[in-house]
Amino acid sequence: MRLDKFLGLMGVGTRKQIKEYVKNGRCQVNGIVVSKADIHVNENEDEIAFDGNVLGYSKYHYFMLYKPQGVVSATTDGRNTTVLDLLAEENVKGLSPAGRLDIDTEGLLLLTDDGGLIHRLLSPKKHVDKVYEVHLASSLSEDDIDKLQKGVDIGDKKDNGDIDYTLPAKVIDKGLDSENRPVVHLIIHEGRFHQVKRMMEAVGNEVLFLKRLSMGPLVLDEKLMPGEYRKLTDEELSSLGVK
Ligand code: URA
Repeated sequence: MRLDKFLGLMGVGTRKQIKEYVKNGRCQVNGIVVSKADIHVNENEDEIAFDGNVLGYSKYHYFMLYKPQGVVSATTDGRNTTVLDLLAEENVKGLSPAGRLDIDTEGLLLLTDDGGLIHRLLSPKKHVDKVYEVHLASSLSEDDIDKLQKGVDIGDKKDNGDIDYTLPAKVIDKGLDSENRPVVHLIIHEGRFHQVKRMMEAVGNEVLFLKRLSMGPLVLDEKLMPGEYRKLTDEELSSLGVK
């Protein structure tokens, strides 16, 4: 974007004032004093300073996306819209989703270029909690809930050939949805492929609708509509240990 637009968004002054300030040598781009306010800058990559203070520059970028159904959690895809296509306006290179949601799953997805954070959130050893809203084909019995909470066989094997049961989970009954389908919140601490759907299959049930509500300390913002996104707040960044 144009430098004067960026400085305006940062609250430096009006367009007219900004033109004057820049002419007077008060603005630096990547350490070099600039004299024209109509030059183009990349607000995500250039370090822009006014009176010596760096404005809005951060090394990494963090976005909370309400992933809609029908969009893939990939960075490129020949056929489908990707989650990165939804953030194209941000003009940030190197963003990736922290984990994947299936094409028909909606909900919270963190997109960032901070590979260290992605690694920490996805590392199987960290057991980061994920909460899913699960709409089911039929009700879960006490026995099903007990099995899901203790760990089920979803077809995975350990290196030694033993069954790799899912880790203990938590099931919270949420009643019925508007179509009278049973709804539960399922809290899991792993992120295996199609995990929620396979866990429900393991107790003879079927997931009809799936939405991720949270991942670790990050909770899907209720103000976001499917397909919308926003930057993480300072509080969210500190809860993730990046600020
Ligand atoms: N579990 C699933 O089955 N699908 C998802 O998208 C996420 C978790």
